[in-house]
Amino acid sequence: MAKKSKNTFYITTPIYYVNDVPHIGHAYTTIIADAISRFKKLSGNDVFFLTGTDEHGQKVEKAAKEKGLTPIELADQMVLRFKDLWKALNIANDSFIRTTQPFHEKGVQKIFQKLKDKGDIYKGIYKGWYCDSTEHFLAEDVPLEEGGFKICPECNTKAFIVSEECYFFKLSAYQKPLLDFYAKNPTFVRPQSRMNEVVSFVKQELKDLSITRTTVEWGIPVPDDPKHTIYVWFDALHNYLTGVGYDQDMSHFQKYWPANIHLIGKDILRFHAVFWPAFLMAAEFPLPQTVFGHGWWLKDEAKMSKSKGNVLDPHIILETFGEDPLRYFLLREIPIGLDGNFSHEGFIHRVNSDLANDLGNLVQRTLTMIHNYFSGKIEEMGDEEKADKKLREEFDNSKKKIIEFYDDYALNRALEEIWFFINIVNKYLADNEPWKLAKDESQRKRLGRILYQSAAALRVISFFLFPVMPESSQKIWNFLGEEKPLEETTLTGLKFDNLKLGQVSKKPKPLFPRVDLKEFLKEEETRQAPQKKEEKMEMITFDEFKKMDLRVGEILKAEKVEGTDKLVKMEVDIGTEKRTMVAGVADVYSPEELEGKKLIVIVNLKPAVIRGIESQGMLLAAEIEGKAIIPFFDADVPAGAKVR
Ligand code: MSP
Repeated sequence: MAKKSKNTFYITTPIYYVNDVPHIGHAYTTIIADAISRFKKLSGNDVFFLTGTDEHGQKVEKAAKEKGLTPIELADQMVLRFKDLWKALNIANDSFIRTTQPFHEKGVQKIFQKLKDKGDIYKGIYKGWYCDSTEHFLAEDVPLEEGGFKICPECNTKAFIVSEECYFFKLSAYQKPLLDFYAKNPTFVRPQSRMNEVVSFVKQELKDLSITRTTVEWGIPVPDDPKHTIYVWFDALHNYLTGVGYDQDMSHFQKYWPANIHLIGKDILRFHAVFWPAFLMAAEFPLPQTVFGHGWWLKDEAKMSKSKGNVLDPHIILETFGEDPLRYFLLREIPIGLDGNFSHEGFIHRVNSDLANDLGNLVQRTLTMIHNYFSGKIEEMGDEEKADKKLREEFDNSKKKIIEFYDDYALNRALEEIWFFINIVNKYLADNEPWKLAKDESQRKRLGRILYQSAAALRVISFFLFPVMPESSQKIWNFLGEEKPLEETTLTGLKFDNLKLGQVSKKPKPLFPRVDLKEFLKEEETRQAPQKKEEKMEMITFDEFKKMDLRVGEILKAEKVEGTDKLVKMEVDIGTEKRTMVAGVADVYSPEELEGKKLIVIVNLKPAVIRGIESQGMLLAAEIEGKAIIPFFDADVPAGAKVR
């Protein structure tokens, strides 16, 4: 059977949940992986790049139910959204895995059985805090409230202790092997700061991990015990094995496994850096080389996520600019390990300054001069002079650094170095003023040399930009008269003066038009607006509306909640009983003003604990510029009267 050789390179992205449409955050991880994969291919490696979708589990089950679909119907729809986006972003993955594919399900069951037979998986009782409305066990580190209960961080309602039979993975047995492994492989987790985080987590007590559920139907059944389904993370992580051939094509599997890099966001580091290597140790597979936890793209300083409503749809940018400027911006703007705030201003600035000015102008100027002065073809040129030699040396210098940065996954630094060199070429042209030499026939050979040097520089620049901006780089490559696809040149074959003399270049078309920020923002706003409206117009049925118990409430007492600016605690008479409610209205109404007022309250909403006070209902108010304006009754209505 084939064995992994030094030349093979296996890279993965997380597999994305299909409960939500992809946004710029998901695009970011996939673009990083694509750029690394393309660079490795240019370097002559035999690369396997895997991405895919995570389709089981509670989140997907719930999202499907809300949409009136079965989970697989939802998954079938959403998987297309991911695949379409990857196509629009020019992602060249070698395979795409869906965890609902039978070969994956079978592979996971096989490993589960193997670990059970070995005693690394055993049956027990899980006891934990369970939230009824989000239907999940809270994480262990959710703190206890004063009354000795826990609150679900997702929906703010009270959780209850629930016991359920489940299968556990013996994670506790892997504490020492994991610590030994980290000590021997200090770059297993990158960046370094995250390695430290992982080590200190594992040094604390590692409890056995519950890896099955009886409350989730939408999952892979446990072999011979199908009322249990396998926990979505145990299922999902194994895609990295099944997606590269485990259990179906073992020679393909052995050729590529272990992965060279699992690229993930820092939110899922613990799963990849602690649980995953422990599962692999238990199943006796070699461990991956690196887990790289990149930072988050934030919008308005908060992580982009659907629940916060601050996600950016990449399609608007893609329709206006194409994929390369977005790929460039995301990779250039921040080092992979850090967070970045996405702003349209920052994006447009990069497009105008780096792409239109520095690179676009260099391409345009060089090729236009070759056309104007040499009809597109330089056939003869003068000897190399000092300035020309220096340009070549600068390239050799930059080339070394660019390769080191790419190999170290420091994509932003590779791009910085490429731009450093682009600006050296711009300066070379400015210093040598070919447009002046063109006026003097005796300088023709010198003119030829200068333009040849610039064109040769553009050729190597486009080569190194290819992993990040494949389409634009291929265009520059073709403008220069190269006929073969850029990808057929490898790093070892790349030389500064490989550009053939006498090669016919094409007239360049503008690659990156400058963009007016104001115009763009105006257009973006009008295109986002209808979407927002559409989101709000989700219809409910009359039966759904009828479920709400709306009544007239009378505020008997009101007082400010200590230590807060906006919260008021109220005692509200709802006809049948008195309820405590908490609302953020103190910035508009004083407690005295509220007392005696009648308003509409919803009384059958699950209680929520706010600042340690259980709020047993909610009052209705209009939200005007962040302030809550309450509609009070001006007629004399009895407390408890139904509102319809
Ligand atoms: N299904 C799991 C992963 C299983 S892998 C075996 C999952 N899926 S997810 O759809 O929630 O995707 C999470 C990943 O999306 C993050 O790890 C990160 O790669 C990417 N991102 C999602 N939001 C992001 C940002 N705002 N910024 C950067 N990346 C983000 O977790």
